Amino acid sequence: TRIALFASGSGSNAENVIRYFSGHEDISVPLIISNKRDAYVHERADRLGIPSFTFSKAEFDEGSAIIDMLRSYDIDYIVLAGFLLKVSQSLLDTYPGRIINIHPALLPKFGGKGMYGGRVHQAVVEAGEKESGITIHYIDENYDEGDIIFQVTCEVLPEDTPEDVARKVHALEYAHFPKVIKAVVKGEDLSKFG
Ligand code: GRF
Repeated sequence: TRIALFASGSGSNAENVIRYFSGHEDISVPLIISNKRDAYVHERADRLGIPSFTFSKAEFDEGSAIIDMLRSYDIDYIVLAGFLLKVSQSLLDTYPGRIINIHPALLPKFGGKGMYGGRVHQAVVEAGEKESGITIHYIDENYDEGDIIFQVTCEVLPEDTPEDVARKVHALEYAHFPKVIKAVVKGEDLSKFG
């Protein structure tokens, strides 16, 4: 199984996923795609020896150049790891049920346009939530609304700042995202992850 990672930013989740699967027998990550030429994920990709490419928003909206590249790399699954653009309908049609996203909060709360990065954690703190967490879900045509695959929570204390929440959520992402991806592509039973 060959996975392409899409990332817009730092790419720490992308790197964590790549490291998890390096040396894995039947799952590999041969390609990284971004919408930002200066995103730090490209430096990580260089260091890890994985080709990374940038496409414009117009190319993402239209889809065909990206689909051509995914086909040329024989990609089976797409994993969005901090990817901030909407995925085109043509990409959804080409990879039905094979595009997975991670969201740094407990959907359906704190999802939708504008809810990314630190803004999500800010909103969680401002709402006085007692917990946050991560949601790993399939992508459909609406932001953050596809079927949920996996969620896990962390405590939010009254004195926690958005940065504190971000730290806890990132720890959950690093601990769970790779193994959930593995379970999805292998068609394994996810209920055992609780
Ligand atoms: C992660 O928290 C991810 O869930 C969110 O954006 C962040 C990306 O961080 N959508 P990184 O690029 O993986 O370091």
